[in-house]
Amino acid sequence: MDNHQEFKELTQKIHKGFVVAFMFIGMASLILVYVMIDPTFSAFQTNESKAYVAVTEEEDDRIENGIHVRTGLVDAEGLMTVVNNCTNCHSAKLVTQNRMNAERWAATIDWMQETQNLWDLGDNEAIIINYLVTNYPVLKKSRRQALTNIEWYELEE
Ligand code: HEC
Repeated sequence: MDNHQEFKELTQKIHKGFVVAFMFIGMASLILVYVMIDPTFSAFQTNESKAYVAVTEEEDDRIENGIHVRTGLVDAEGLMTVVNNCTNCHSAKLVTQNRMNAERWAATIDWMQETQNLWDLGDNEAIIINYLVTNYPVLKKSRRQALTNIEWYELEE
């Protein structure tokens, strides 16, 4: 009888031990599976910590040494109008490497409007052209300067 009772208690203990052990294993494997699915535990993060910091256009419009850093354009009157209208489709380099007078700028803008889907610039067109001819004027030296001090000689017939 005593023996029997002891045996019963022992099996109950073992049974309990197994139950606890399986619960631990079960929980451990659940955690393991979760870590495999969501290794960064993102489900536990609040929305606040999840939201990344957006760099706004304004923050990205830094001027350093008189140069608009993002586009390389000279900081002068009309800069942001040019940035907002002329650097969307192509680099600002394409704009500044072309040095033209006001008429040719107007013609280039017309061409882009007719063939490249450039929008109507309204009053901004004058601001843009003014900015371009002021800050990126036609380079006088792009052509060889006229020769001076030449001793011409007469052609003999
Ligand atoms: C809707 C798109 C778009 C916008 C906005 C735009 N352009 Fe262009 N532009 C183009 C395309 C497309 C080309 C041709 C690019 C190429 O040949 O690789 C071009 C070419 C040019 C060229 C070179 C022209 C040539 O003869 O080679 C200049 C200069 C230029 N754009 C200046 C400007 C200026 C100034 C503005 C602002 C008023 C502007 N672009 C805005 C689309 C645009």
